[in-house]
Amino acid sequence: MAGNVLADSEARGHEQVVFFNYPEVGLKAIIGIHNTVLGPGLGGCRMRLYPNEAAAIDDVLRLSEGMTYKSALAGLPLGGGKACIIADPAMMEGREALFKKFGECLNYLMGRYITAEDMGTSVSDMMVMKAVTKHVVGTDPKLGGAGDPSPWTAKGVFLSMQAAAERVFKEGRSVQGKRVAIQGVGHVGMYLLGYLTEAGADVTVSDTNELNLKEASSKYGAKVVSTEAIYDVPCDIFAPCAVGQTINAQTLPRLSCQIIAGAANNQLPDRSVYSTINDKGILYCPDFVINSGGVICVCAEVAARGQNTEWISSKVNDIYVTTSKVLDEASRRGAFTEEVAVELAKEVINAARNRVSQ
Ligand SMILES: NC(=O)c1ccc[n+]([C@@H]2O[C@H](COP(=O)([O-])OP(=O)(O)OC[C@H]3O[C@@H](n4cnc5c(N)ncnc54)[C@H](O)[C@@H]3O)[C@@H](O)[C@H]2O)c1
Repeated sequence: MAGNVLADSEARGHEQVVFFNYPEVGLKAIIGIHNTVLGPGLGGCRMRLYPNEAAAIDDVLRLSEGMTYKSALAGLPLGGGKACIIADPAMMEGREALFKKFGECLNYLMGRYITAEDMGTSVSDMMVMKAVTKHVVGTDPKLGGAGDPSPWTAKGVFLSMQAAAERVFKEGRSVQGKRVAIQGVGHVGMYLLGYLTEAGADVTVSDTNELNLKEASSKYGAKVVSTEAIYDVPCDIFAPCAVGQTINAQTLPRLSCQIIAGAANNQLPDRSVYSTINDKGILYCPDFVINSGGVICVCAEVAARGQNTEWISSKVNDIYVTTSKVLDEASRRGAFTEEVAVELAKEVINAARNRVSQ
C-alpha cells in the first residue's frame, strides 16, 4: 500500500501525480499520469470512498500504470493515466458542481490526462465535464461520443478466453461445454455471459446485485451462487469481472479452473501469487492485455472518430492476436504471463521513445 507518494510513484515509473482539493464543492481528487511517451495519459475517473488516503493513492498508482501497458499493447496512441475522486459515488446533491470543478482541473493539465467513466461515475458526469473541458471521453453517443465501452471490453475478454482455451484444452477456439464461473455480472460480465452462452459454455455467476443475478438467470439461464461460493464452483475458466485483487492467497487454493480470464483491473494483489498460479497449472490471462476493448472504444472518441465501429472492431479483434502472443511468449520463456506482458508493453514504449530521440 502506498505511503510515500514520491517513492512509490518513482518505483512504478510515474511522471506526475497531482492532488486537487476544493472543499467548497467537496472535491478531493488524485490524478496519476504514469507515462505519456505514446500519447496523453488516458484512464477512467473512479469515484469511491476509500478506507484511507493511502488506499486511494495506491489505487491511482496501480491503475494508471496498468493503463500505460494496456494502451501500449493495444497499439493505441495513448499513455496511462487514472483519476480518483474521494467521495461517495451515490452523492446527488452538489454532484454537478463537483464534476464541473474536476473538469476545470483537467484543463490545468493541458491535455496530459484525458478522463473517462469508471466505477462510480457515469456518462452524465462526463457530459458535465464536457461543458468545461475537452479532455474527457466516454460521452453521450447521441452527441458524437463513444458510448458504453462495456460490450467491446466483453468481446476482447471473450476472444482472449478463446485464445487461452485453444492452448489449454486443445480443441481449437471452442469453449462449448466448458464450465465458466463469472464473478460479477455488471456491464462487462453480462455481455460476457451473452457471448459465452451463445458459444455453448456452461456458466455460473455471482454478484452482489440481485437484479443482475435475476437477469443472468432469466435471460441466459446462468446458474447463480453466492459471492463466496463462486471460488469453490468446479470450473474450467474463472472470470473475475467485479472488483480487483480477488485472485489472492486466500482464494487461489479454492479455485479449480485451468484458465483465469476476466475484465476486472488489478486482479492480482502483487507478484507474490505468480508462483501459486503456476504451481496450480493455471493459465493466467493478464487483465490489462485482455480488457483493452473499453479503452479502444474511447480512443476512437479521442481521435474524433466517434463510434467508428469498423475501426474499433478490428482493434478489438487484435486482442486475440496479442493475447496469443503473450501466452506463447510466456510459455516459450517459462515466465509468468503478466511479467511477459509488461515487458512487451515496455518494448513498445521504448521503441517509440527511441524513434522520438533519433
Ligand atoms: N466497463 C468497461 O468497459 C471496463 C473496461 C476495462 C476494465 N473494466 C473493469 O471490469 C470490471 C467490471 O466493470 P463493469 O463496467 O462491468 O463494472 P460494473 O460496476 O458494471 O459491474 C461490476 C459488477 O460486480 C458486482 N460486484 C461487486 N462486488 C462483487 C463481489 N464481491 N462479488 C461479485 N460481484 C460483485 C457489482 O454488483 C456489479 O454488478 C471492473 O473491475 C472494471 O474496472 C471495465
